[in-house]
Amino acid sequence: MQPSNPSEFMLTDRNISLKPYNTFGLDVAADYLTHIRTPEDLEAVFSTSKFRLMKRLVLGGGSNILLTRHFAGLVIKVEIEGITIMDEDADNVLVKVGAGENWHQFVLWAVEKGYGGIENLSLIPGTVGAAPMQNIGAYGVEQESVFHSLEAYEIASGKVVRFYKEDCKFGYRYSAFKDTLKEKYIITDVYYRLSKQPTFNISYGNLKATLEDMGVDELSLVAISQAVINIRQSKLPDPIEIGNAGSFFKNPVILKKHYQSLQAAFDEVPGYEVSTDEIKVPAAWLIEKAGWKGYKNGEIGVHSKQPLVLVNFGGGQGQDIKNLSIEIQNSVHKKFGIALDAEVNII
Ligand code: EPU
Repeated sequence: MQPSNPSEFMLTDRNISLKPYNTFGLDVAADYLTHIRTPEDLEAVFSTSKFRLMKRLVLGGGSNILLTRHFAGLVIKVEIEGITIMDEDADNVLVKVGAGENWHQFVLWAVEKGYGGIENLSLIPGTVGAAPMQNIGAYGVEQESVFHSLEAYEIASGKVVRFYKEDCKFGYRYSAFKDTLKEKYIITDVYYRLSKQPTFNISYGNLKATLEDMGVDELSLVAISQAVINIRQSKLPDPIEIGNAGSFFKNPVILKKHYQSLQAAFDEVPGYEVSTDEIKVPAAWLIEKAGWKGYKNGEIGVHSKQPLVLVNFGGGQGQDIKNLSIEIQNSVHKKFGIALDAEVNII
């Protein structure tokens, strides 16, 4: 790719605060920050050895990150926009979405057009480029079920490379971009195949009951999207009001034998079978039973309605939130013998 036609990309000078760019609302600075509006902007940034060699942090919506200290490097804020229909037939539509598009706005666009597949993923904060990174999921659906492919800028070669579903190795809150492909690529566009003949998935938790409470007789994309929005708004704090990054930990998967021993000690322990010998246990339950639900220490704490979410009430510090997360991990481990892994990227 030629750096011939970069848009007016903006390179901010030293010590720019990242407070507006992370949903925890942490006031941490970075040496440099650049706003990327086209893939060519990336080529322009990386054509200088100063920035090519610098430590970097790619940010989408900043909704899955905990910043604990000054970032001595270049923050790359991906703001590539655009929703384009690339192909369609009677049943499906293939859509190309810029990595910087807001995920929820993309969901609303699809719902409004009558394209199904992502309505259960309404109101997830963050950008489209971050969705495949951690294979976002909610209410019984993960983005991999509609994912077609993505394009990413390869830092070493300066080329844009296409990755298909099998290349991404999607798992629960996992993709190869968190692992073997980490730090080598910057996602620029994602392609989703959405359905014009949607099948509805309302089997998760209280989704069906919420639709009934809403008085919905006939299922539709709009109704399901609205039900998910209602559930999320009733349980999860709005980052505009209370800083947070959604679920701080992943739900742990434990051996069935371990689960059975927990059942003997705590008869109401919830769990969902994920394979013949493995059970996924809700981290929220473990954290609540370890006594952390609604915990508050100064400006930080554990959300009172969903203990999987750590919060910054105002002027909290990233390091304090990290320390709190370690305390929670230790106490859950002590009580249940289960190790909780952070879902959020701690920087
Ligand atoms: N629970 C409690 N106490 C609580 C809340 C929940 O014990 O205060 C237990 C209950 O047993 C409940 C179970 O946890 O049945 C599951 O709760 P919920 O449906 O709220 O989901 P979750 O497992 O806690 C996951 C995702 C969320 C996603 C929801 C809905 C992870 C790490 N989190 O949470 O994703 O919205 O399911 O599908 O898998 C995120 O990733 O940031 C996120 C919010």
